[in-house]
Amino acid sequence: MFGPMAPDPRHAPLFEPIRVGNKLFRNRFYVAPHCSGLGVEYPGAQAYLRGMRAEGGWAAVNTEYCAVDAESDDAPWVQARLIDQRDQANLRLMVERVHQFNALAGVQLVYMGADHTGFVTRLPAGGPSQVTSAMSGHSCYALDKRDIRRIQRSYVEAAIRARDIGFDLVQIAAREGFSLPLQFLWKYWNQRTDEYGGSIENRTRFWRETIEQVREAVGDDCAIVAGFCLDSFNDESDRAFKVSDDGIAVVELLDDMVDLWDMQVGHLEDDVSSSRFFEPFWQRSYIEQVRPYAKKPIAAVGRFTDPELMARAIKDGVIDIIGAARPAIADPFIPTKIFEGRGDDIRECIGCNICVSRFNNGGGRIVCTQNATVGEEYRRGWHPERFNESEMAEEPILIIGAGPAGMECARVLGERGFANVHLVERDDHIGGHVNWISELPGLRTWRRVVEYRESQLRKLENVAVLTGQNLSAGDVLDYGASTVIVATGAEWDPLGANPITHAPIPGADADFVYTPEQIMLDGIEVPGERVLVYDCDGYFMGSSIAEKLASEGKTVTLVSPSDQIGSYLFFTDEGGHVHHNLLKLEVELVPSHVVTSIERGLVRGHNSYHSGKVSEWHVDSVVLVTQRLSRSTLYDELTRNPELLEETGITRVLRIGDCLEPRVIAESVFDGHRLAREIDTSDPAVPLPFIREQRILGWDADAYDGELTHTLPLEVSSQTTATVQSRHDRCADAFNSIRHG
Ligand SMILES: Cc1cc2nc3c(=O)[nH]c(=O)nc-3n(C[C@H](O)[C@H](O)[C@H](O)COP(=O)(O)O)c2cc1C
Ligand code: SF4
Repeated sequence: MFGPMAPDPRHAPLFEPIRVGNKLFRNRFYVAPHCSGLGVEYPGAQAYLRGMRAEGGWAAVNTEYCAVDAESDDAPWVQARLIDQRDQANLRLMVERVHQFNALAGVQLVYMGADHTGFVTRLPAGGPSQVTSAMSGHSCYALDKRDIRRIQRSYVEAAIRARDIGFDLVQIAAREGFSLPLQFLWKYWNQRTDEYGGSIENRTRFWRETIEQVREAVGDDCAIVAGFCLDSFNDESDRAFKVSDDGIAVVELLDDMVDLWDMQVGHLEDDVSSSRFFEPFWQRSYIEQVRPYAKKPIAAVGRFTDPELMARAIKDGVIDIIGAARPAIADPFIPTKIFEGRGDDIRECIGCNICVSRFNNGGGRIVCTQNATVGEEYRRGWHPERFNESEMAEEPILIIGAGPAGMECARVLGERGFANVHLVERDDHIGGHVNWISELPGLRTWRRVVEYRESQLRKLENVAVLTGQNLSAGDVLDYGASTVIVATGAEWDPLGANPITHAPIPGADADFVYTPEQIMLDGIEVPGERVLVYDCDGYFMGSSIAEKLASEGKTVTLVSPSDQIGSYLFFTDEGGHVHHNLLKLEVELVPSHVVTSIERGLVRGHNSYHSGKVSEWHVDSVVLVTQRLSRSTLYDELTRNPELLEETGITRVLRIGDCLEPRVIAESVFDGHRLAREIDTSDPAVPLPFIREQRILGWDADAYDGELTHTLPLEVSSQTTATVQSRHDRCADAFNSIRHG
């Protein structure tokens, strides 16, 4: 897989093979278990997603959490399953795909215990004690010893099924605050007084017995991995699970029995640590405490994207193997790039957690802000590092607007070999709104969206990037391009129209009412002491503006029509931390309230559920974070007159990103990427079909899977080479005249 080169000596430790039980890791890169929304219902997508990481050079690649029993039903959240032969048949594809690229395949076996919802199976589920889960919202039955044996048998049978389809690593998980072994370990869940409760030896018993039984069943065919949450994190209660005490004890008790430790710290929301609140490898001090007690290799996560940080963690002996979920989602080819000395080509995870937000929503498929191809490997046939050449590569393409969609579109067109791509930006820098968003508190790492694309575009000689050029419709008509892509973004509605009323807020046009752009881009200092921020968006903007203003000394009231301020932030696992910060800054939080009018010094509103319950806020200024509107004037002007377009040789005008529909950055990047992949079709505004992996009655399975070949051009527009060449020249002239004044 790797070329003939040796890695930079500084990174050599990352490429030393290591033995894990009876298996050999070819290097130190391990994809930690992570959900994808694919489960066993989308076997093709599941196999290709994991296979891409194997192809990218990871020594071992895991599934997501995988139920061992029908009683472990976590719907609407999507997990894999190994409860019967059908699940086995579907997961086999993943194992084969991972093996095809010479990597080891791992499965994470889980019984959800008290967190099980039963929404699909309608079965009850057992836990160590009858306590109510904050996640599922209901209770469980307390397992008796017969139940314990039955569930341990489920683990064993699932492990045998895994072994039989070729899984190399079987993880018995006690990770991230969930699954039955962890519930036995934590006093928070386990209030038993028998031999499975009380002392740490007793609380480890269920896990130890399960590992023993699985080991006996699979023998040396599989390495046994202990997925271990070292510490319940930020928990000062007497039921906390502390690394310094319980964590060390568990490692001492189990080290002889396992082949690999897969360690992390805290519940999902801290483990999937947003870059706003956690530094890379913040877990180091926790792992250092157990290191002396673990003779077996330790893999651990830490949003590792920096080869220096990875190499140091291994050289210092803190860990043996680099575990990663999000870094591998953002760039499946990290190991290959490090090996080949192409560290600057790594598409670094920005720690925004949009990926996990789709899982947390229950049922969504995985997406990534940085990597538009994740989850699309099978259904759209996209490869993150390979691009098909276009048969119309000479066609000159003008992209107006270098925000996330425009940058990504230009990058992919460049990779596809288009000879003349011009990316023209009104501002002095490319990046669009990410430039100012990344100036908001804690969002500095988001600049990587721009930095990665900036560095890749610099390497593409066939893409010309022009900044400081505000093209009018007339300029575009004269430009000489035959394909014009408008990516001019969106802006916050200054009049406060919103999802509740679909109408402007009376008084929103006053001179003391602002949008986020006016504060962040125009640098306006919000006047007065007291500011009201009205957040109907629910993602990061409202709370970030509130945090910024409060930290500058303003008295801030944050009003939202939703029951939870910044409700989407709870899907990105940032909500708790954001609320903590806002409360620390004395921001007044007012959920479930609608703003109805704005006057100087006075904002009026009422409770979201009762218009008679009115409220008044006496404030000096207002910031409206209500909805974004596409900046589509240029697109509208260009498409208004099709005859004129034809006269000037423009065959098509397309729009992408926020200019089409304001969405999260991940979707803008996806939109730009998709258009560039599919630009050769007769109407690329209409996405090509993709494989849906549905059971379709009466259809031939082969014909259905054959759709994968449809991801390449269906029809190529019929332009003569001469016409293309002349447009090519005109385009180049236009570029030169602008560049040289
Ligand atoms: C989208 C997503 C889904 C995850 N699902 C699981 C899971 O199924 N089981 C598990 O033990 N950890 C899961 N995790 C946690 C990761 O394994 C990992 O511990 C965490 O993301 C921190 O590692 P990172 O900094 O490399 O992302 C998930 C993480 C993400 C981002
Ligand atoms: S969505 Fe964000 S956090 Fe998740 S992998 Fe991509 S860049 Fe990283």
